[in-house]
Amino acid sequence: TKRYYHERVLDHYNNPRNIGSFDKKSLDVGTATVGAPACGDVMKIQIKVKDNIVVDVCFKTFGCGSAIASSSLATEWCKGKTLDQCLEIKNSDIAKHLSLPPVKMHCSMLAEQAIKRAIYDYKLKQDKLNEGASKDGLIETQLSM
Ligand code: FES
Repeated sequence: TKRYYHERVLDHYNNPRNIGSFDKKSLDVGTATVGAPACGDVMKIQIKVKDNIVVDVCFKTFGCGSAIASSSLATEWCKGKTLDQCLEIKNSDIAKHLSLPPVKMHCSMLAEQAIKRAIYDYKLKQDKLNEGASKDGLIETQLSM
């Protein structure tokens, strides 16, 4: 019989790590939903950040076995790492670890994209917070004058 999936893919597929979701509006959460136009598969990854470290992470993927395995593995690789370290996670490393065939490369790309965008989303939130804070500060100074 032909083996379509490497055993590591099957392991993550049968026993996915970190499935779930966080409150998107929570200030310490970054969220990304990415899709592959070619196959219509969708992947959502969320990170929870404290002191620049991904303290928790979860995913939901509606897609093929490789996409599920890629996102599951990516969440494992993110946990406990700094944001900069997470940005270094490459789809080629995911694909290599899971022995994905060329036609399944885009599944691992989804995972890399989702992590990057979740980090971006988190950073954007912090920027907005800081802007808000300095505006508040401004109003306070104006009022006290
Ligand atoms: Fe498209 Fe796997 S076939 S994400």
